[in-house]
Amino acid sequence: MSHNIFISKEKIQARIKELALEIERDFKGQEIVVIGVLNGAFMFVADLIREINLPINLDFIAASSYVGTQSSGELVINKDIKIDVTGKNVILIEDIVDTGLTINKIKDLFLLRNPKSLKLCSLLHKPARTVHHTEIDYLGFEIEDKFVIGYGLDFDGKFRELPYIGVYGNE
Ligand code: IMP
Repeated sequence: MSHNIFISKEKIQARIKELALEIERDFKGQEIVVIGVLNGAFMFVADLIREINLPINLDFIAASSYVGTQSSGELVINKDIKIDVTGKNVILIEDIVDTGLTINKIKDLFLLRNPKSLKLCSLLHKPARTVHHTEIDYLGFEIEDKFVIGYGLDFDGKFRELPYIGVYGNE
């Protein structure tokens, strides 16, 4: 099955450079703790951290609240971080904020751990689907209500390897 390119590889990489500059400016001279939310954010994290010219402490959390194409409402932490984030500048990295449920629950979890600051960076946001409002400090692209795949995002575990973002199905 082939997919129309919705956001090209070049557009993604150009936006990542801009986001990295913003983060660099905001945390000049400081160390940051980057926490990628698995599985979807792995590719975004890998590209983003290579553009950020700051000392980075990296870890990943595996959490999901998603079954099929609908959010189920339950957050499951499959893998937690090893880093102690107390007093640290933490940036959570998500692939997409859809209803906002997953990231809100993850943010709550991190706030209990007393970081110095907690920011959210998401590659994509679907504002039309918002149920739980979340402040996105660094946003790649705002998109329409379409189910997207590629660049880390999957449908049923597939298509994560695509270097671009496509719309699932034949749109
Ligand atoms: P939320 O809790 O509804 O915000 O869902 C967020 C999670 O659902 C993301 O981290 C993705 O894993 C998944 N998700 C939401 N929309 C899409 C999509 O269009 N394509 C692939 N995964 C999605």
